[in-house]
Amino acid sequence: KDSTFFHGKEILITAGPTQESIDPVRFFTNHSSGKMGYALAEVASKLGANVTLVTGPTKLPTPPKVKRIEVKTAEEMYDQVLLHYDACDIVVKSAAVADYKPIKTFDQKMKKQDGNLVVEMERTKDILKTLGKKKKQQYLVGFAAETNDVIRYGKEKLAKKNLDAIVVNDISQEGAGFSVDTNIVTFLSAKGKEEIMPLLSKSEIAKKIFVLMENDMKDGTL
Ligand code: PMT
Repeated sequence: KDSTFFHGKEILITAGPTQESIDPVRFFTNHSSGKMGYALAEVASKLGANVTLVTGPTKLPTPPKVKRIEVKTAEEMYDQVLLHYDACDIVVKSAAVADYKPIKTFDQKMKKQDGNLVVEMERTKDILKTLGKKKKQQYLVGFAAETNDVIRYGKEKLAKKNLDAIVVNDISQEGAGFSVDTNIVTFLSAKGKEEIMPLLSKSEIAKKIFVLMENDMKDGTL
């Protein structure tokens, strides 16, 4: 039988890619489909939580009873996440947020020109780092997509961004990471839990993440 631990908890989940426009028809993005984040939202909702899903553009249907907020850019995601943050018990950031955006977005479609095109980009705000700095009662979970030294980089991000846990995908492996229905992840917590999961469906992984989060939150000070 499912635990009642998450009943009535306010959970904010981010999912999908962001799109950073250069003009009205062109943008920079990544291969995130939203599947991992939507699977987490579905599990959280089934466990009785009040789920808000801040989502970049995807074609996925909204899981039952989930409040969906659609955004396009990293900036819009930042604004929506910060707006809801204070009232949250748990935040899980599975979105693949752009690290850079074009410095200038043109109002009209750019015309082709001779020669190469150079697009100057600037850093976007790091949402997760901001949340780590402002953290009060929230249990904060980040994601990381890595191709090597997965555990080491995961531990570094966990500490640097003041997270309670991080889910690291090894995207160098077949069946893991962006777009596919499966994933291979390791759950690391600030309290020292380290759970390496085998290849599983994103839905199975989402279920396991909530079990691990519950155990981690019950263990110790909370
Ligand atoms: O959507 P799917 O196709 O199912 O794919 C799932 C996934 C691979 C996108 C997902 O499992 C995942 O790993 N998401 C995070 C990918 C990522 O952007 O990792 P990162 O190492 O670049 O970022 C680390 C963390 O910082 C993430 O929690 C990210 O949401 C956050 N971040 C990054 C940049 C930024 N400007 N603000 C942020 O908050």
